Amino acid sequence: MTPGVRPLIAGNWKMHGTLRDAAALAEAVRAGAPAVVERADLLLCPPFVHLHVVAASMAWKPVALGAQDCAAQEKGAHTGDVSAPMLADAGCGYVILGHSERRADHGETDALVRAKAAAAIAAGLVPVICVGESEAQRDAGQAEDVVAAQVAGSLPEGFAAAKGVVAYEPVWAIGTGRTPTEADIAAMHARLRREVSAGQGDATTRLLYGGSVKPGNAAAILALPNVDGALVGGASLVAADFLAIAAAVAAG
Ligand code: PGA
Repeated sequence: MTPGVRPLIAGNWKMHGTLRDAAALAEAVRAGAPAVVERADLLLCPPFVHLHVVAASMAWKPVALGAQDCAAQEKGAHTGDVSAPMLADAGCGYVILGHSERRADHGETDALVRAKAAAAIAAGLVPVICVGESEAQRDAGQAEDVVAAQVAGSLPEGFAAAKGVVAYEPVWAIGTGRTPTEADIAAMHARLRREVSAGQGDATTRLLYGGSVKPGNAAAILALPNVDGALVGGASLVAADFLAIAAAVAAG
């Protein structure tokens, strides 16, 4: 944790479930939230078409709502895309951008992620920008430099003022049950702090770790310096697991 920074536990639901599942999961998180919101901010990021049912469940606002992507453009002839102002209008406060699955599946570059993040900020959303190295890059000893370059390329002007968030997610740790060692996470987050502070962020920018965060490893990861929360995929689909991860934030 970074002293004075309020932790954020974010659930990335990816492309899972039905409307009914989304409503039930949101309701279960909402019901358990009072026990953990003293310790951390909670954020749920369902698929676009499920935003409205989660927004309805979150109407009393202990838990924030976010999307998993947005367009770089504000409006116009962009079939299939969803703009940042539309997300804000739908009740979102946050948007995940540059997730490695989007970088891989849709060829998203740092420049595109930066443009999307600028659009998000202009619409009043908080961007959660994901960075992280591949396994080959880590094996080649390039992990920190890859992440530093992604930070330099992906964070737009105004990022610090918008309270933007950076999530370090090693690609090889996502959905695999594997995580870096605590020493490796701490080393990366120390570098991330330097790069973010030297760039568009500042010393209070929340730096999340993501990649196979589970109830069993959350306390150790969340206790590391410069780890200000978690971006949770698989475990966020089980309300009890997501809430247990939030409960693993050390009492401040
Ligand atoms: P995971 O996903 O927790 O299932 O590894 C994390 C993410 O992709 O954000």
